[in-house]
Amino acid sequence: MKPVKVGLLGLGTVGGGTLNVLVRNAAEIARRAGREIVVTHAAAREYRCEGLEGLDRVSVGDDAFAVVENPEIDIVVELIGGYSPARELVLKAIENGKHVVTANKALIAMHGNEIFEAAQQKGVTVAFEAAVAGGIPIIKAVREGLAANHIEWIAGIINGTGNFILTEMRDKGRDFADVLAEAQALGYAEVDPTFDVEGIDAAHKLTILASLAFGIPLQFDRCYTEGISRIEPQDVTYAEEFGYRIKHLGITRRAEKGIELRVHPTLIPERRLIANVDGVMNAVLVKGDAVGPTLYYGAGAGSLPTASAVVADIIDVTRTLTTDPENRVPHLAFQPGELSDLPVCPMDDVVTAYYLRMTAADRPGVVAAVAGILGEAGISIEAMKQKQPAEGESEVPLVMLTHRVREQQMNQAISKIEALDAIRPGVTRIRVERLN
Ligand code: HSE
Repeated sequence: MKPVKVGLLGLGTVGGGTLNVLVRNAAEIARRAGREIVVTHAAAREYRCEGLEGLDRVSVGDDAFAVVENPEIDIVVELIGGYSPARELVLKAIENGKHVVTANKALIAMHGNEIFEAAQQKGVTVAFEAAVAGGIPIIKAVREGLAANHIEWIAGIINGTGNFILTEMRDKGRDFADVLAEAQALGYAEVDPTFDVEGIDAAHKLTILASLAFGIPLQFDRCYTEGISRIEPQDVTYAEEFGYRIKHLGITRRAEKGIELRVHPTLIPERRLIANVDGVMNAVLVKGDAVGPTLYYGAGAGSLPTASAVVADIIDVTRTLTTDPENRVPHLAFQPGELSDLPVCPMDDVVTAYYLRMTAADRPGVVAAVAGILGEAGISIEAMKQKQPAEGESEVPLVMLTHRVREQQMNQAISKIEALDAIRPGVTRIRVERLN
């Protein structure tokens, strides 16, 4: 059989890794795919030849549209990233009847509905395993491996850069900016690293997981997104004193009124496996009604781990080249006509426990006043610590854990606490999830 011809858009960290894996493991990949897979055409604005294998057999230019217009190409692999021109390139590739593999989570989260509809009409596949959690085959796990289940919730550490920063800050007391610069140098961070630290990258990935889990259209704009830039070292310490670790989690859950979709720093019990996922590693916990909780762990970023997922998709697409388009695995796990209109819940309706830290005047009645406000709001305190004032200080940190409560009630209580004379404005609030 003729080899399958791949056109590669991008020869950066992931593009270079993809070429290397395809060349290095070519014989084994052909045995798995049933056909030889070769990269014949690539487009990149800037790239370094050094370390790229088999580049002499690839026609390389700087015009990405020339690749998607090349009639010889069977599969276009989009590894440029970002919204545009990735969207235009992918839609053009589909229009030209080509299958597409992409690692672009921003593109899928934002324009996936449009892209999948176009692919469906044209009878081609758009595969995106590398878009979520790098090398971990989480898309395949949720879409295929757990297809028997009613998925109840997913909670994941799905941004390696953020996890790397939190881990280094906790273990080595390193400076936030210094760790971020290292993550950028290692090729983990996004082009705009605020996407990592402000949770946007995780929100892209969570949006995709929620659609696969619950059969809803992609709704990135409905995802509540809070980053890690306001986490202070003292919160990491207090969390540990209560027996918790702070992780930046993406959480999606089937709730009574709809689907929760939220990314924020979260306290989780330190005994949970996921609390011990450190560095650039990712982990995703999926709870299905039949299977129970399942945990997927691995490298969430980096050249070869991400290439592992990209190449797996290329192999999958190669295997399906001869299958009837109507009988392929649906893009969003559920048949296109079977997507549900379950709403994404407003954050006010989400119910969680909370960690609260405030700076209080060290005088009688302050703790009672705070406890009174929480009590009136029906919020029960689970644990509380008041630290001794530092030498010469008249204020003290007051930290507490609460039982579960609706976000709206907590917001109202925090406003009242911040209005107290004895409390410095700016109560720190971090949500707590027990994940049991
Ligand atoms: N910037 C991302 C991360 C890369 O740090 O996880 C992988 O999507």
